[in-house]
Amino acid sequence: MLPKRRRARAGTPGADSSAARFPGVAVYLAEPHMGRSRRAFLTRLALSKGFRVLDAYSSEVTHVVMEQTSAEEAARWQESRAAPPEPGCARPTLLDISWFTESMAAGHPVPVECRHRLQVTVPRKALPSPVWMPPYACQRPTPLTHHNTSLSEALETLAEAAGFDGSEGRVLAFSRAASMLKALPGPVTVLSQLQGLPHFGEHSCRVVQELLDCGVCAEVERVRLSARYRSMKLFTGIFGVGVRTADQWYREGLRTLDDVREQVQRLTQQQKAGLRYHADLSIPVQRPDAEALQQVVEAAVERALPGATVTLVGGFRRGKLQGHDVDFLITHPQEGQEAGLLSRVVHSLKEQGLVLYYQHRPRHSQEPACPARRNRTTDTLERCFCILRLPSSQGAVVGGTLGPRRPWKAVRVDLVVAPISQFPFALLGWTGSKVGPVPWGRPVCGVGPADAVASPPTPQHFERELRRFSRKERGLWLNSDGLYDPEQEMVVHLATEEDIFRHLGLTYLPPQLRNA
Ligand code: CTP
Ligand code: MN
Ligand code: MN
Repeated sequence: MLPKRRRARAGTPGADSSAARFPGVAVYLAEPHMGRSRRAFLTRLALSKGFRVLDAYSSEVTHVVMEQTSAEEAARWQESRAAPPEPGCARPTLLDISWFTESMAAGHPVPVECRHRLQVTVPRKALPSPVWMPPYACQRPTPLTHHNTSLSEALETLAEAAGFDGSEGRVLAFSRAASMLKALPGPVTVLSQLQGLPHFGEHSCRVVQELLDCGVCAEVERVRLSARYRSMKLFTGIFGVGVRTADQWYREGLRTLDDVREQVQRLTQQQKAGLRYHADLSIPVQRPDAEALQQVVEAAVERALPGATVTLVGGFRRGKLQGHDVDFLITHPQEGQEAGLLSRVVHSLKEQGLVLYYQHRPRHSQEPACPARRNRTTDTLERCFCILRLPSSQGAVVGGTLGPRRPWKAVRVDLVVAPISQFPFALLGWTGSKVGPVPWGRPVCGVGPADAVASPPTPQHFERELRRFSRKERGLWLNSDGLYDPEQEMVVHLATEEDIFRHLGLTYLPPQLRNA
């Protein structure tokens, strides 16, 4: 029995409510052997069950359904339709009508199983066997696009779900295995190729085996379609909402954005802003937008302090074509000149009417070089988490189906300031990479909400590995604000990222190869 509030909503007609019913599922019924009238009938049926059915084949499609079609024919059909998928985007699954009919009978998308899939085994270039890989992600190049996307995505889904359950050990196990796959020089075709690779536990091996055998893993499909995973993903996708808050909401029975909106009185200012601009913020920021914003930020910084510099960091520095936000690192060649700069930059942006929301976190007072304090995961750098208004004349794509047409869109922007002596460490730290959410946020030195998305308490995958390597293999404590030698009880001064790699005895990896 559904709670009263949800029962009322379940019957609400309209495109939005049906789209929200099974987010992550967009069906395309491919016509070849289906015929128009049957296709129209099946479309109506699926719509009535709350499925999203797309009339045209596009990159939004997640499930292609075909009738009386062989796997070879399905593959040829897809080749003729689809441009190669964008890096990081999976191709839609090609499915037999049996998946569709079972889903209609169940009233929800059933997990995709082997027998539903139209799949041809394409002969692929094999990996040398056995493969050898160094254990730390910072010891091996990881490009943006690689040969094992469906395997790494499956393991990352399990890592993400483990993060939603606060299971840090499983997050590490799955993200390390996923990251290893991304670094392999070719596609995995048989499980034995992974033998002897560090971080491949029994569970990850089982998932890979199942994917190699039938192209789909039942556990991963179950997770992706589970109410828990879907709501946790939806909630943690709101700016200002971390895993802890999302989990609490879920346990209270909240499932949708509308459920959250009904609780507005308990939201932080950051979460309110996150909800207000959610439609815009959930569309990935494109590189031209990032470049347009860089010009805006550079102009504001130049006005506030001539000679200060702005560097694009985060995913865009690693070569990504899109991201969830844009990250900028600001410094000045003369130590100390950067003091007070960020407030002036934000003031200048505000005067231009470009600031929709901001949360300024001042620089933490210089801590004494006390070992216990310096072995922390958060840094002391001054920063500002913003939502900026990007005018369309600056390159934004606005309007469309997601909201009212207007000449601007909201974009998440992180501004970080480092004195020049800490710049190389900040550059390294804020370039990433990151993989999935961080489980169970802890308060960031008592500032801000306990688990704000804007303040992940631990570094992300490449950074996490680099810091683990420094500590375990070199006895040095690395952070976004410096490198500390606990034995000598002193801070190590270095001038560039290259120097930091060299000091740690690592081969330098440019940002494009840090996509672990
Ligand atoms: N970071 C950090 N401290 C924070 C927030 C972020 O050190 N409070 C670091 C993260 O560890 C990451 C980098 O800043 O390495 C960028 O963070 P984020 O924008 O979350 O990730 P991106 O890799 O840029 O991913 P996306 O493109 O989706 O924005
Ligand atoms: Mn980013
Ligand atoms: Mn960021």
